[in-house]
Amino acid sequence: MASSLLLFLLSFLILITTSKSTPTTITIPLSAPSFTKLVVPSKDPWGALSHLASLSLSRSHHIKSPKTNFSIIKTPLFPRSYGGYSISLNFGTPPQTVKFVMDTGSSLVWFPCTSRYLCSECNFPNITKTGIPIFLPKLSSSSKLIGCKNPRCSLFFGPKIQSKCHECDSTAQNCTQTCPPYSIQYGSGSTAGLLLSETLDLPNKKTIPDFLVGCSILSTRQPEGIAGFGRSTESLPSQLGLKKFSYCLVSHAFDDTPTSSDLVLDTGSGSGDTKIAGLSYTPFQKNPSTAFGDYYYVLLRNIVIGDTHVKVPYKFLVPGSDGSGGTIVDSGTTFTFMEKPVYELVTKEFEKQMAHYTVATEIQNLTGLRPCFNISGEKSVSIPDLIFQFKGGAKMALPLSNYFSFIDSGVICLTIVSDDALGPGIGAGPAIILGNYQQRNFHVEFDLENERLGFKPQTCV
Ligand SMILES: *[C@@H]1O[C@H](CO)[C@@H](O)[C@H](O)[C@H]1NC(C)=O
Ligand SMILES: *[C@@H]1O[C@H](CO)[C@@H](O)[C@H](O)[C@H]1NC(C)=O
Ligand SMILES: *[C@@H]1O[C@H](CO)[C@@H](O)[C@H](O)[C@H]1NC(C)=O
Ligand SMILES: *[C@@H]1O[C@H](CO)[C@@H](O)[C@H](O)[C@H]1NC(C)=O
Ligand SMILES: *[C@@H]1O[C@H](CO)[C@@H](O)[C@H](O)[C@H]1NC(C)=O
Repeated sequence: MASSLLLFLLSFLILITTSKSTPTTITIPLSAPSFTKLVVPSKDPWGALSHLASLSLSRSHHIKSPKTNFSIIKTPLFPRSYGGYSISLNFGTPPQTVKFVMDTGSSLVWFPCTSRYLCSECNFPNITKTGIPIFLPKLSSSSKLIGCKNPRCSLFFGPKIQSKCHECDSTAQNCTQTCPPYSIQYGSGSTAGLLLSETLDLPNKKTIPDFLVGCSILSTRQPEGIAGFGRSTESLPSQLGLKKFSYCLVSHAFDDTPTSSDLVLDTGSGSGDTKIAGLSYTPFQKNPSTAFGDYYYVLLRNIVIGDTHVKVPYKFLVPGSDGSGGTIVDSGTTFTFMEKPVYELVTKEFEKQMAHYTVATEIQNLTGLRPCFNISGEKSVSIPDLIFQFKGGAKMALPLSNYFSFIDSGVICLTIVSDDALGPGIGAGPAIILGNYQQRNFHVEFDLENERLGFKPQTCV
Protein backbone atom coordinates (compact mmCIF):
# COMPACT_ATOMS: atom_id res chain seq x y z
CA MET A 1 0.00 0.00 0.00
CA ALA A 2 2.57 2.51 1.16
CA SER A 3 5.05 1.65 -1.55
CA SER A 4 2.54 1.85 -4.38
CA LEU A 5 1.42 5.17 -2.97
CA LEU A 6 5.01 6.33 -2.95
CA LEU A 7 5.39 5.24 -6.55
CA PHE A 8 2.28 7.13 -7.41
CA LEU A 9 3.55 10.26 -5.68
CA LEU A 10 6.91 9.93 -7.35
CA SER A 11 5.39 9.60 -10.76
CA PHE A 12 3.17 12.53 -9.98
CA LEU A 13 6.19 14.63 -9.06
CA ILE A 14 7.88 13.56 -12.25
CA LEU A 15 4.77 14.62 -14.12
CA ILE A 16 4.83 18.06 -12.61
CA THR A 17 8.45 18.64 -13.44
CA THR A 18 8.34 17.20 -16.93
CA SER A 19 5.12 18.85 -18.00
CA LYS A 20 6.49 22.39 -17.64
CA SER A 21 7.49 22.76 -21.28
CA THR A 22 4.03 21.82 -22.53
CA PRO A 23 1.83 23.24 -19.81
CA THR A 24 -1.49 22.10 -21.24
CA THR A 25 -0.61 18.46 -21.73
CA ILE A 26 0.56 15.78 -19.37
CA THR A 27 2.57 13.05 -20.99
CA ILE A 28 3.08 9.93 -18.98
CA PRO A 29 5.15 6.86 -19.62
CA LEU A 30 2.85 3.87 -19.42
CA SER A 31 5.14 1.85 -17.21
CA ALA A 32 4.62 4.19 -14.30
CA PRO A 33 1.45 3.69 -12.27
CA SER A 34 0.18 7.20 -12.77
CA PHE A 35 -3.49 6.42 -12.83
CA THR A 36 -5.49 5.35 -9.85
CA LYS A 37 -6.83 1.91 -10.44
CA LEU A 38 -10.53 1.67 -9.84
CA VAL A 39 -10.75 -1.59 -7.96
CA VAL A 40 -14.18 -3.06 -8.32
CA PRO A 41 -15.57 -6.29 -6.86
CA SER A 42 -14.80 -9.11 -9.30
CA LYS A 43 -18.24 -10.70 -9.22
CA ASP A 44 -20.05 -7.91 -11.00
CA PRO A 45 -17.54 -5.20 -11.84
CA TRP A 46 -19.74 -3.42 -14.35
CA GLY A 47 -22.72 -3.52 -12.07
CA ALA A 48 -20.63 -2.04 -9.28
CA LEU A 49 -19.28 0.70 -11.51
CA SER A 50 -22.69 1.47 -12.90
CA HIS A 51 -23.91 1.58 -9.34
CA LEU A 52 -21.26 4.12 -8.37
CA ALA A 53 -21.95 6.11 -11.49
CA SER A 54 -25.68 6.03 -10.83
CA LEU A 55 -25.19 7.10 -7.24
CA SER A 56 -23.29 10.11 -8.50
CA LEU A 57 -25.99 10.76 -11.02
CA SER A 58 -29.13 10.32 -9.08
CA ARG A 59 -27.97 12.71 -6.40
CA SER A 60 -28.08 15.43 -8.92
CA HIS A 61 -31.69 16.06 -8.07
CA HIS A 62 -29.55 29.63 12.79
CA ILE A 63 -30.12 27.85 15.43
CA LYS A 64 -27.84 30.08 17.62
CA SER A 65 -24.59 28.35 18.33
CA PRO A 66 -24.28 27.14 21.89
CA LYS A 67 -21.74 28.93 24.02
CA THR A 68 -18.73 26.72 23.70
CA ASN A 69 -15.11 27.26 24.40
CA PHE A 70 -13.35 25.49 21.60
CA SER A 71 -12.13 26.64 18.29
CA ILE A 72 -10.68 23.81 16.23
CA ILE A 73 -12.13 20.33 16.25
CA LYS A 74 -10.65 17.55 14.19
CA THR A 75 -12.34 14.30 13.37
CA PRO A 76 -11.13 11.60 10.99
CA LEU A 77 -12.82 11.30 7.61
CA PHE A 78 -12.70 7.79 6.10
CA PRO A 79 -13.10 6.87 2.44
CA ARG A 80 -15.79 4.24 2.02
CA SER A 81 -16.39 1.62 -0.64
CA TYR A 82 -19.85 3.03 -1.39
CA GLY A 83 -18.13 6.06 -2.92
CA GLY A 84 -18.45 8.56 -0.06
CA TYR A 85 -16.48 9.69 3.00
CA SER A 86 -17.65 9.05 6.52
CA ILE A 87 -17.20 10.44 10.03
CA SER A 88 -18.12 9.05 13.43
CA LEU A 89 -20.04 11.16 15.93
CA ASN A 90 -21.13 10.44 19.50
CA PHE A 91 -24.72 11.14 20.46
CA GLY A 92 -26.63 10.58 23.69
CA THR A 93 -26.05 10.01 27.39
CA PRO A 94 -24.08 7.78 27.73
CA PRO A 95 -22.65 8.40 24.24
CA GLN A 96 -23.38 5.99 21.37
CA THR A 97 -21.04 6.14 18.37
CA VAL A 98 -22.72 6.37 14.99
CA LYS A 99 -21.22 6.66 11.50
CA PHE A 100 -22.35 9.26 9.01
CA VAL A 101 -21.77 10.09 5.37
CA MET A 102 -20.23 13.58 5.35
CA ASP A 103 -22.49 15.40 2.92
CA THR A 104 -22.21 19.03 1.86
CA GLY A 105 -25.22 18.50 -0.44
CA SER A 106 -27.89 18.15 2.29
CA SER A 107 -28.54 19.63 5.72
CA LEU A 108 -30.26 17.37 8.24
CA VAL A 109 -28.06 15.23 10.47
CA TRP A 110 -29.82 11.87 10.97
CA PHE A 111 -28.95 8.42 12.20
CA PRO A 112 -30.53 4.99 11.74
CA CYS A 113 -32.65 4.86 14.87
CA THR A 114 -34.50 2.40 17.12
CA SER A 115 -34.35 -1.38 16.96
CA ARG A 116 -37.15 -1.28 14.38
CA TYR A 117 -35.03 0.61 11.82
CA LEU A 118 -35.85 -0.61 8.31
CA CYS A 119 -33.56 -0.01 5.38
CA SER A 120 -34.40 -1.36 1.94
CA GLU A 121 -31.80 -1.85 -0.80
CA CYS A 122 -29.11 -1.23 1.79
CA ASN A 123 -26.69 -4.03 0.98
CA PHE A 124 -23.53 -2.10 0.27
CA PRO A 125 -20.13 -3.80 0.12
CA ASN A 126 -18.80 -4.29 3.64
CA ILE A 127 -22.08 -3.04 5.11
CA THR A 128 -24.81 -5.55 5.79
CA LYS A 129 -28.28 -4.70 7.01
CA THR A 130 -27.40 -5.95 10.44
CA GLY A 131 -24.06 -4.16 10.28
CA ILE A 132 -25.38 -0.59 10.12
CA PRO A 133 -24.72 0.98 13.53
CA ILE A 134 -28.05 2.04 15.00
CA PHE A 135 -28.79 4.66 17.63
CA LEU A 136 -31.11 3.50 20.41
CA PRO A 137 -32.89 6.49 22.03
CA LYS A 138 -34.21 4.36 24.88
CA LEU A 139 -30.64 3.83 26.08
CA SER A 140 -30.05 7.59 26.25
CA SER A 141 -31.28 9.78 29.09
CA SER A 142 -30.92 12.93 26.98
CA SER A 143 -33.15 11.88 24.04
CA LYS A 144 -36.22 14.08 23.69
CA LEU A 145 -38.73 14.11 20.84
CA ILE A 146 -39.18 17.60 19.41
CA GLY A 147 -42.68 18.87 20.18
CA CYS A 148 -44.97 20.47 17.66
CA LYS A 149 -44.71 23.88 19.35
CA ASN A 150 -40.94 23.68 19.62
CA PRO A 151 -39.40 26.51 17.56
CA ARG A 152 -37.09 23.95 15.94
CA CYS A 153 -40.08 22.19 14.44
CA SER A 154 -40.95 25.45 12.65
CA LEU A 155 -37.34 26.01 11.80
CA PHE A 156 -37.19 22.69 10.00
CA PHE A 157 -40.67 22.67 8.42
CA GLY A 158 -41.34 26.39 8.15
CA PRO A 159 -43.80 28.46 10.24
CA LYS A 160 -46.84 26.96 8.48
CA ILE A 161 -46.35 23.74 10.40
CA GLN A 162 -47.94 25.44 13.43
CA SER A 163 -51.33 25.09 11.76
CA LYS A 164 -50.86 21.32 11.95
CA CYS A 165 -50.30 21.29 15.70
CA HIS A 166 -54.03 20.74 16.31
CA GLU A 167 -53.67 19.12 19.71
CA CYS A 168 -51.78 22.17 20.88
CA ASP A 169 -54.27 24.82 19.81
CA SER A 170 -55.93 25.45 23.16
CA THR A 171 -53.68 23.71 25.66
CA ALA A 172 -50.35 24.94 24.42
CA GLN A 173 -48.65 24.60 27.78
CA ASN A 174 -48.61 20.85 28.16
CA CYS A 175 -49.17 19.75 24.59
CA THR A 176 -47.63 16.34 23.89
CA GLN A 177 -48.07 16.36 20.11
CA THR A 178 -44.72 15.77 18.44
CA CYS A 179 -43.34 17.60 15.47
CA PRO A 180 -44.61 15.76 12.35
CA PRO A 181 -42.34 13.12 10.78
CA TYR A 182 -39.77 14.27 8.25
CA SER A 183 -39.23 12.58 4.93
CA ILE A 184 -36.22 13.44 2.80
CA GLN A 185 -35.67 12.41 -0.78
CA TYR A 186 -32.04 12.25 -1.84
CA GLY A 187 -30.90 11.80 -5.40
CA SER A 188 -30.28 8.23 -4.43
CA GLY A 189 -32.60 6.87 -1.78
CA SER A 190 -34.57 8.49 0.99
CA THR A 191 -35.08 8.55 4.73
CA ALA A 192 -37.95 9.28 7.15
CA GLY A 193 -38.32 9.60 10.90
CA LEU A 194 -38.89 11.91 13.85
CA LEU A 195 -36.85 14.88 15.02
CA LEU A 196 -35.00 14.50 18.32
CA SER A 197 -33.14 16.78 20.61
CA GLU A 198 -29.94 15.01 21.64
CA THR A 199 -26.58 15.70 23.19
CA LEU A 200 -23.69 15.70 20.73
CA ASP A 201 -20.23 14.90 22.12
CA LEU A 202 -17.50 16.33 19.96
CA PRO A 203 -14.00 14.82 19.79
CA ASN A 204 -12.40 17.43 22.03
CA LYS A 205 -14.78 16.47 24.85
CA LYS A 206 -17.02 19.44 24.24
CA THR A 207 -20.66 18.66 24.71
CA ILE A 208 -23.41 20.28 22.65
CA PRO A 209 -26.77 19.80 24.39
CA ASP A 210 -30.05 20.07 22.52
CA PHE A 211 -28.69 19.30 19.06
CA LEU A 212 -31.44 18.76 16.48
CA VAL A 213 -31.00 15.32 14.92
CA GLY A 214 -33.21 13.04 12.85
CA CYS A 215 -34.17 9.64 14.25
CA SER A 216 -34.77 7.74 11.01
CA ILE A 217 -36.94 4.66 11.11
CA LEU A 218 -37.34 4.02 7.38
CA SER A 219 -34.70 4.47 4.71
CA THR A 220 -33.92 3.31 1.21
CA ARG A 221 -30.44 2.95 -0.24
CA GLN A 222 -28.54 4.50 2.70
CA PRO A 223 -25.24 2.91 3.74
CA GLU A 224 -25.30 4.72 7.09
CA GLY A 225 -26.63 7.93 8.60
CA ILE A 226 -25.95 11.30 6.96
CA ALA A 227 -24.27 14.30 8.54
CA GLY A 228 -25.67 17.23 6.56
CA PHE A 229 -23.04 19.93 6.09
CA GLY A 230 -25.27 21.99 3.77
CA ARG A 231 -26.37 25.61 4.17
CA SER A 232 -29.75 25.26 5.88
CA THR A 233 -30.30 26.04 9.57
CA GLU A 234 -30.48 22.39 10.66
CA SER A 235 -27.07 21.44 9.24
CA LEU A 236 -24.17 20.59 11.52
CA PRO A 237 -22.17 23.73 10.60
CA SER A 238 -25.25 25.94 11.20
CA GLN A 239 -26.13 24.35 14.54
CA LEU A 240 -22.56 24.65 15.78
CA GLY A 241 -22.18 28.15 14.36
CA LEU A 242 -19.02 27.10 12.51
CA LYS A 243 -16.88 29.84 11.00
CA LYS A 244 -15.50 27.37 8.52
CA PHE A 245 -14.81 23.73 7.90
CA SER A 246 -12.28 22.04 5.68
CA TYR A 247 -11.20 18.65 4.42
CA CYS A 248 -8.69 16.96 2.18
CA LEU A 249 -10.14 13.79 0.67
CA VAL A 250 -7.69 10.91 0.47
CA SER A 251 -7.44 9.03 -2.78
CA HIS A 252 -8.75 5.52 -2.55
CA ALA A 253 -9.84 2.63 -4.68
CA PHE A 254 -13.39 2.18 -3.39
CA ASP A 255 -12.29 -0.12 -0.64
CA ASP A 256 -12.72 0.58 3.04
CA THR A 257 -9.08 1.36 3.68
CA PRO A 258 -8.41 2.51 7.22
CA THR A 259 -6.49 5.53 5.89
CA SER A 260 -8.19 8.75 6.87
CA SER A 261 -7.65 12.48 6.79
CA ASP A 262 -8.97 15.18 9.09
CA LEU A 263 -12.26 16.95 8.79
CA VAL A 264 -11.55 20.27 10.52
CA LEU A 265 -14.34 22.26 12.14
CA ASP A 266 -13.53 25.84 13.11
CA THR A 267 -15.83 27.46 15.62
CA GLY A 268 -13.28 30.05 16.65
CA SER A 269 -13.76 33.75 16.96
CA GLY A 270 -13.20 33.92 13.22
CA SER A 271 -10.22 35.12 11.30
CA GLY A 272 -12.03 38.08 9.77
CA ASP A 273 -11.57 38.06 6.04
CA THR A 274 -7.95 36.93 6.22
CA LYS A 275 -7.21 34.54 3.40
CA ILE A 276 -4.98 31.54 4.00
CA ALA A 277 -1.77 31.75 2.02
CA GLY A 278 -1.69 29.40 -0.94
CA LEU A 279 -5.46 28.97 -1.18
CA SER A 280 -7.41 30.14 -4.22
CA TYR A 281 -10.83 31.53 -3.36
CA THR A 282 -14.11 31.90 -5.14
CA PRO A 283 -17.26 33.36 -3.58
CA PHE A 284 -20.35 31.25 -2.85
CA GLN A 285 -23.24 32.24 -5.10
CA LYS A 286 -26.87 32.74 -4.21
CA ASN A 287 -29.44 30.70 -6.07
CA PRO A 288 -32.57 32.79 -6.88
CA SER A 289 -34.74 29.82 -5.89
CA THR A 290 -34.97 28.96 -2.19
CA ALA A 291 -35.62 25.33 -3.20
CA PHE A 292 -31.88 24.89 -3.59
CA GLY A 293 -30.88 26.69 -0.40
CA ASP A 294 -28.97 23.65 0.91
CA TYR A 295 -26.27 23.81 -1.72
CA TYR A 296 -22.91 25.53 -1.93
CA TYR A 297 -23.02 27.20 -5.33
CA VAL A 298 -19.88 28.55 -6.95
CA LEU A 299 -19.59 30.30 -10.29
CA LEU A 300 -17.66 28.11 -12.72
CA ARG A 301 -16.73 30.43 -15.56
CA ASN A 302 -14.67 28.19 -17.79
CA ILE A 303 -13.84 24.59 -18.42
CA VAL A 304 -10.44 24.39 -20.08
CA ILE A 305 -9.29 21.17 -21.76
CA GLY A 306 -5.71 21.28 -23.01
CA ASP A 307 -5.54 24.77 -24.44
CA THR A 308 -9.19 24.88 -25.50
CA HIS A 309 -11.88 26.80 -23.65
CA VAL A 310 -15.05 24.73 -23.84
CA LYS A 311 -17.89 27.06 -24.79
CA VAL A 312 -20.48 26.22 -22.15
CA PRO A 313 -23.72 28.22 -22.60
CA TYR A 314 -24.32 30.78 -19.86
CA LYS A 315 -27.60 29.22 -18.71
CA PHE A 316 -25.73 26.16 -17.43
CA LEU A 317 -23.16 28.19 -15.53
CA VAL A 318 -25.52 30.60 -13.76
CA PRO A 319 -28.76 29.49 -12.07
CA GLY A 320 -31.87 30.90 -13.74
CA SER A 321 -34.90 32.34 -11.94
CA ASP A 322 -36.32 28.83 -11.49
CA GLY A 323 -33.08 27.78 -9.78
CA SER A 324 -31.89 25.47 -12.56
CA GLY A 325 -28.28 25.60 -13.67
CA GLY A 326 -25.13 26.55 -11.82
CA THR A 327 -22.39 24.54 -10.14
CA ILE A 328 -22.36 23.09 -6.63
CA VAL A 329 -19.61 21.49 -4.55
CA ASP A 330 -20.84 18.21 -3.11
CA SER A 331 -18.87 15.80 -0.94
CA GLY A 332 -21.74 13.29 -1.11
CA THR A 333 -21.58 12.80 -4.89
CA THR A 334 -18.86 10.47 -6.15
CA PHE A 335 -18.17 11.35 -9.81
CA THR A 336 -18.67 14.90 -11.04
CA PHE A 337 -21.99 15.26 -12.84
CA MET A 338 -22.58 17.47 -15.86
CA GLU A 339 -25.93 18.00 -17.50
CA LYS A 340 -26.09 16.41 -20.93
CA PRO A 341 -25.30 19.46 -23.14
CA VAL A 342 -22.27 20.38 -20.97
CA TYR A 343 -21.14 16.76 -20.83
CA GLU A 344 -21.37 16.47 -24.62
CA LEU A 345 -19.11 19.51 -25.08
CA VAL A 346 -16.57 18.16 -22.59
CA THR A 347 -16.48 14.58 -23.88
CA LYS A 348 -16.35 15.74 -27.53
CA GLU A 349 -13.34 17.92 -26.72
CA PHE A 350 -11.50 15.00 -25.09
CA GLU A 351 -12.44 12.76 -28.02
CA LYS A 352 -11.14 15.37 -30.46
CA GLN A 353 -7.83 15.91 -28.68
CA MET A 354 -7.32 12.18 -28.11
CA ALA A 355 -8.57 11.06 -31.53
CA HIS A 356 -5.39 9.09 -32.22
CA TYR A 357 -6.19 6.55 -29.49
CA THR A 358 -8.49 3.58 -29.92
CA VAL A 359 -11.95 4.17 -28.45
CA ALA A 360 -13.01 1.23 -26.22
CA THR A 361 -16.65 1.15 -27.29
CA GLU A 362 -17.50 -2.03 -25.46
CA ILE A 363 -16.27 -0.68 -22.13
CA GLN A 364 -18.16 2.57 -22.77
CA ASN A 365 -21.32 0.57 -23.38
CA LEU A 366 -20.80 -1.53 -20.28
CA THR A 367 -19.95 1.27 -17.84
CA GLY A 368 -21.75 4.28 -19.25
CA LEU A 369 -18.47 6.18 -18.87
CA ARG A 370 -17.18 8.13 -21.88
CA PRO A 371 -14.74 8.54 -23.54
CA CYS A 372 -12.79 5.33 -22.87
CA PHE A 373 -9.57 4.51 -24.71
CA ASN A 374 -7.76 1.22 -25.11
CA ILE A 375 -4.17 2.32 -24.62
CA SER A 376 -2.68 -1.14 -24.03
CA GLY A 377 -0.63 -0.98 -27.25
CA GLU A 378 0.78 2.52 -26.58
CA LYS A 379 4.27 3.29 -25.30
CA SER A 380 3.17 6.60 -23.83
CA VAL A 381 -0.06 8.51 -23.77
CA SER A 382 -0.80 12.23 -23.79
CA ILE A 383 -3.84 13.42 -21.95
CA PRO A 384 -4.97 17.06 -22.05
CA ASP A 385 -5.13 19.00 -18.78
CA LEU A 386 -8.53 19.66 -17.27
CA ILE A 387 -8.90 23.01 -15.53
CA PHE A 388 -11.96 24.52 -13.87
CA GLN A 389 -11.80 28.33 -13.71
CA PHE A 390 -13.99 30.02 -11.14
CA LYS A 391 -15.17 33.57 -10.52
CA GLY A 392 -12.38 35.60 -8.97
CA GLY A 393 -9.74 33.82 -11.02
CA ALA A 394 -9.39 30.68 -8.91
CA LYS A 395 -8.20 27.79 -11.07
CA MET A 396 -8.61 24.15 -10.17
CA ALA A 397 -6.19 22.10 -12.29
CA LEU A 398 -7.22 18.53 -11.66
CA PRO A 399 -4.54 15.91 -11.07
CA LEU A 400 -4.73 13.38 -13.90
CA SER A 401 -5.94 10.63 -11.58
CA ASN A 402 -8.96 12.78 -10.65
CA TYR A 403 -10.39 12.61 -14.17
CA PHE A 404 -8.96 9.60 -16.00
CA SER A 405 -8.81 6.14 -14.42
CA PHE A 406 -7.97 2.63 -15.54
CA ILE A 407 -11.30 0.86 -15.74
CA ASP A 408 -10.12 -2.37 -17.31
CA SER A 409 -6.65 -3.63 -18.18
CA GLY A 410 -5.33 -1.14 -20.68
CA VAL A 411 -8.53 0.89 -20.82
CA ILE A 412 -8.83 4.38 -19.34
CA CYS A 413 -12.08 6.33 -19.02
CA LEU A 414 -13.05 9.89 -18.17
CA THR A 415 -14.61 9.76 -14.69
CA ILE A 416 -17.30 12.37 -15.21
CA VAL A 417 -20.92 11.31 -15.65
CA SER A 418 -24.12 12.62 -17.15
CA ASP A 419 -27.71 11.53 -17.15
CA ASP A 420 -27.49 9.57 -20.38
CA ALA A 421 -25.39 6.91 -18.71
CA LEU A 422 -28.08 5.55 -16.46
CA GLY A 423 -31.54 6.42 -15.29
CA PRO A 424 -33.95 9.15 -16.25
CA GLY A 425 -33.14 12.83 -16.68
CA ILE A 426 -32.55 14.97 -13.64
CA GLY A 427 -34.51 18.05 -14.60
CA ALA A 428 -34.21 21.06 -12.32
CA GLY A 429 -31.27 21.67 -10.05
CA PRO A 430 -27.57 22.31 -10.54
CA ALA A 431 -26.16 21.68 -14.02
CA ILE A 432 -22.76 20.73 -12.66
CA ILE A 433 -22.00 18.89 -9.42
CA LEU A 434 -18.39 18.81 -8.40
CA GLY A 435 -18.14 15.36 -6.80
CA ASN A 436 -15.70 13.97 -4.26
CA TYR A 437 -13.70 11.97 -6.83
CA GLN A 438 -12.62 15.23 -8.44
CA GLN A 439 -11.96 16.92 -5.07
CA ARG A 440 -9.45 14.31 -3.92
CA ASN A 441 -6.01 15.60 -3.06
CA PHE A 442 -7.17 19.17 -2.67
CA HIS A 443 -7.39 21.02 0.59
CA VAL A 444 -10.97 22.32 0.38
CA GLU A 445 -12.19 24.99 2.77
CA PHE A 446 -15.80 26.10 3.20
CA ASP A 447 -15.31 29.60 4.61
CA LEU A 448 -18.83 30.23 5.91
CA GLU A 449 -17.98 33.49 7.63
CA ASN A 450 -16.80 35.04 4.40
CA GLU A 451 -19.09 33.09 2.08
CA ARG A 452 -16.38 31.61 -0.10
CA LEU A 453 -14.74 28.37 -1.14
CA GLY A 454 -10.97 28.05 -0.82
CA PHE A 455 -8.83 25.29 -2.28
CA LYS A 456 -5.30 24.25 -3.15
CA PRO A 457 -3.72 21.05 -4.40
CA GLN A 458 -2.42 18.97 -1.51
CA THR A 459 -1.56 15.33 -0.93
CA CYS A 460 -4.10 14.29 1.66
CA VAL A 461 -2.45 11.26 3.25
C1 LIG B 1 -11.88 28.42 27.85
O1 LIG B 1 -10.58 28.27 27.31
C2 LIG B 1 -9.62 29.08 27.92
C3 LIG B 1 -8.31 28.94 27.15
O2 LIG B 1 -8.21 27.67 26.57
C4 LIG B 1 -9.46 28.68 29.40
O3 LIG B 1 -8.51 29.51 30.02
C5 LIG B 1 -10.81 28.85 30.08
O4 LIG B 1 -10.73 28.39 31.42
C6 LIG B 1 -11.89 28.08 29.36
N1 LIG B 1 -13.20 28.39 29.93
C7 LIG B 1 -14.09 27.45 30.19
C8 LIG B 1 -15.39 27.94 30.74
O5 LIG B 1 -13.91 26.26 30.00
C1 LIG C 1 -52.85 19.70 30.34
O1 LIG C 1 -52.76 19.68 31.74
C2 LIG C 1 -54.03 19.75 32.40
C3 LIG C 1 -53.78 19.85 33.90
O2 LIG C 1 -52.58 19.26 34.29
C4 LIG C 1 -54.86 18.54 32.02
O3 LIG C 1 -56.13 18.63 32.64
C5 LIG C 1 -54.98 18.51 30.51
O4 LIG C 1 -55.70 17.34 30.12
C6 LIG C 1 -53.65 18.52 29.83
N1 LIG C 1 -53.81 18.62 28.40
C7 LIG C 1 -53.12 17.84 27.54
C8 LIG C 1 -53.39 18.09 26.10
O5 LIG C 1 -52.32 17.01 27.89
C1 LIG D 1 -13.91 -4.41 3.06
O1 LIG D 1 -13.04 -3.91 4.05
C2 LIG D 1 -11.74 -4.49 4.06
C3 LIG D 1 -10.93 -3.81 5.15
O2 LIG D 1 -11.69 -3.61 6.28
C4 LIG D 1 -11.06 -4.30 2.72
O3 LIG D 1 -9.84 -4.97 2.71
C5 LIG D 1 -11.94 -4.83 1.60
O4 LIG D 1 -11.37 -4.52 0.36
C6 LIG D 1 -13.32 -4.18 1.69
N1 LIG D 1 -14.19 -4.72 0.66
C7 LIG D 1 -14.73 -3.93 -0.27
C8 LIG D 1 -15.62 -4.59 -1.25
O5 LIG D 1 -14.54 -2.74 -0.30
C1 LIG E 1 -22.27 0.07 -28.19
O1 LIG E 1 -23.58 0.63 -28.20
C2 LIG E 1 -23.93 1.22 -29.44
C3 LIG E 1 -25.26 1.92 -29.28
O2 LIG E 1 -26.14 1.17 -28.49
C4 LIG E 1 -23.95 0.14 -30.52
O3 LIG E 1 -24.27 0.71 -31.77
C5 LIG E 1 -22.58 -0.51 -30.59
O4 LIG E 1 -22.61 -1.59 -31.50
C6 LIG E 1 -22.13 -1.01 -29.23
N1 LIG E 1 -20.74 -1.44 -29.36
C7 LIG E 1 -20.24 -2.50 -28.73
C8 LIG E 1 -18.82 -2.82 -29.03
O5 LIG E 1 -20.87 -3.16 -27.94
C1 LIG F 1 -7.30 -3.54 -26.00
O1 LIG F 1 -6.51 -3.76 -27.12
C2 LIG F 1 -5.76 -4.97 -27.07
C3 LIG F 1 -4.92 -5.05 -28.33
O2 LIG F 1 -4.16 -3.89 -28.44
C4 LIG F 1 -6.69 -6.15 -26.97
O3 LIG F 1 -5.94 -7.33 -26.83
C5 LIG F 1 -7.59 -5.99 -25.75
O4 LIG F 1 -8.55 -7.03 -25.72
C6 LIG F 1 -8.32 -4.67 -25.80
N1 LIG F 1 -9.06 -4.48 -24.56
C7 LIG F 1 -10.36 -4.21 -24.55
C8 LIG F 1 -10.99 -4.12 -23.22
O5 LIG F 1 -11.01 -4.05 -25.56
